[in-house]
Amino acid sequence: MKQMWKHNHVIDLSEFSLEDYISVLELANRFKSIPKSGSRKLPALQGRFVATLFFEPSTRTRSSFELAAKKLSADVQTFSPSSSSLSKGESPLDTALTYVAMGADILIVRHSSTGVPKQIANHLKMLGKQTSILNAGDGLHSHPSQALVDLFTLAKFFNPEEVNPSILKGKTIAIIGDVLHSRVARSNLWSLTACGANVVLCGPPSLVPEEFCEFTKTPPPGQLEDPIQHRGQISISRSLKEALNKSDAAITLRIQKERMAENLLSDLDTYHREFGINHKHLKFCSNRIPVLHPGPVNRGIEMSSEVLDDKEICLVDKQVSNGIPIRMALLYLIIAAK
Ligand code: CP
Repeated sequence: MKQMWKHNHVIDLSEFSLEDYISVLELANRFKSIPKSGSRKLPALQGRFVATLFFEPSTRTRSSFELAAKKLSADVQTFSPSSSSLSKGESPLDTALTYVAMGADILIVRHSSTGVPKQIANHLKMLGKQTSILNAGDGLHSHPSQALVDLFTLAKFFNPEEVNPSILKGKTIAIIGDVLHSRVARSNLWSLTACGANVVLCGPPSLVPEEFCEFTKTPPPGQLEDPIQHRGQISISRSLKEALNKSDAAITLRIQKERMAENLLSDLDTYHREFGINHKHLKFCSNRIPVLHPGPVNRGIEMSSEVLDDKEICLVDKQVSNGIPIRMALLYLIIAAK
């Protein structure tokens, strides 16, 4: 594999080139193919120190980053906000600097406010520190590793033999539900369109505002140019039937009750009837399409329990298991580039 990786931090997929996606997916596929029996750990991160700084709760992302780092032989430290000095008023930045002073090579940061991982990365640059920041989800902004998991899962679904993001070119992927509050959807928009997929966003206007059609037209502030020349298109549909019928796969999103301002939805039963996925809705599709969800799922709201438990259709378990090789690949590439 050609080594073109140049990222010391991974904050936002708007910065990723097609080669970056190929590097992560190819390497993840190699890690995934390592038999579970035999040698359980690879030495790639031996002597390296990885800390997970999750200022907001997580099950999948934190556990899979920690497992990934351990499988690469890193020393791993879990930061627990409730028993930390945050309760004495220490800031997230000073918490991060404390781990840097302990010799952290990589800090994996999740925070409920947009921009915290980037602020920490900028501060480290100013101090001349080499510690890498991996964004594990910030506010409504970005969740790069989840979007890479989704891309890998889709690429493997469309071609189990060879994992290449170009398999997405010309495909249509529906993203359904609470796009407004979803950092996963924003990262999915960068990754899927970079690989040439067209995205149809589906939901009520309160959760899928029209301006999302323009989302990838301009790089975020501070980024001079888009590393992708030709992106797939983004469109919006207010009809689940129409969106499913034109799509090759569907990603449903969690209704984020904790981030929901008043009155964005009339009630959850109506939402499920109109935009929740069940077997009846999937009959709208001319082809059999897979259903993904980043998790955690609200059963009976974004999708029925029957769909969630139908392993022929629902790829949620595959997304979770793919989370480990994808995060191993990110950790490996970051350390290899140092
Ligand atoms: N998908 C995701 O970010 O899940 P967690 O909040 O459990 O990490």
